[in-house]
Amino acid sequence: MTTTTASQEAFLRAFHSEQPAVTAEAFARGRAPNGKSSYEILRDRVAGSRRVLDLGCGDGLLLEYLAASEGRQLAGVDLSPESVALARRRPALTGARLEEGRAQELPFPDDGFDACVSHMALMLMADIEQVAADVARVLAPGGVLACVLGGGAAGGEAHERFGGMLRSALDEAPAARRVPALGDRRTRTREGLDEILGTAGFGAADWETVTIDLSGSAEEVWGSLSGMYDLAPLDHATVTALRESFLAGTAESAGRDGHVACAFRIHVATARLR
Ligand SMILES: C[S@@+](CC[C@H](N)C(=O)[O-])C[C@H]1O[C@@H](n2cnc3c(N)ncnc32)[C@H](O)[C@@H]1O
Repeated sequence: MTTTTASQEAFLRAFHSEQPAVTAEAFARGRAPNGKSSYEILRDRVAGSRRVLDLGCGDGLLLEYLAASEGRQLAGVDLSPESVALARRRPALTGARLEEGRAQELPFPDDGFDACVSHMALMLMADIEQVAADVARVLAPGGVLACVLGGGAAGGEAHERFGGMLRSALDEAPAARRVPALGDRRTRTREGLDEILGTAGFGAADWETVTIDLSGSAEEVWGSLSGMYDLAPLDHATVTALRESFLAGTAESAGRDGHVACAFRIHVATARLR
């Protein structure tokens, strides 16, 4: 493993040891125009698959959705032992194989899955060619990889306010605590993803961009925006001050009902092994 990969993974482990369920807390209430969450959208992409692996499964929310279909064999893997421990506590996942481990060296035998899913995780992974190769190894011939990838802010004054406040706070943060550049930028575009997956034996990905509405009360919107990795370099007092100032600022600009607009873009990519 290169030192860059090791430092990226050390950051992710440390971040999730403090906030092991942060992504589910931030995204579970988000809704696409069809009324579904990004987790439900991904679940539906592998509706016919019996043996499913979740790559970077976090606290197991997506696996719980998948477990609602009878007869499924489920597995999950994540770098963070704290996140895996939360997933193991879900009653719906008692029969699932949940492992602490790296997506680059999956602790599963060849050809054991019909589908692999990954929600907001693939774009954070270093050494992505190795991830793609190992996913291809554990998938049976014709198996499917379906993933949700982050696509950035999609409007709403709250996002801009959050970004502006964050930039000023980060300028003051010690350089040693900065968030390392995570993952491989090619996962953010269809062409880039096709290049990575094509080398591992996948056909071209089906690629759909969806806007997820994360609007809500100022508290809820703060919960979603602060659940990304951006706040990691900041100490507790700075985060508390940012939160108070965000809540006060958005309260002024929110509608009379206290509703704060906020939207986030995701890409839903599905590729099949040739
Ligand atoms: C943004 S969180 C998403 C968690 C979960 N999929 C969800 O959406 O609720 C990204 C997850 O990917 C995991 N992760 C990142 N790189 C990984 C790798 N190389 N191998 C396994 N897990 C990884 C992190 O530990 C983290 O739990």
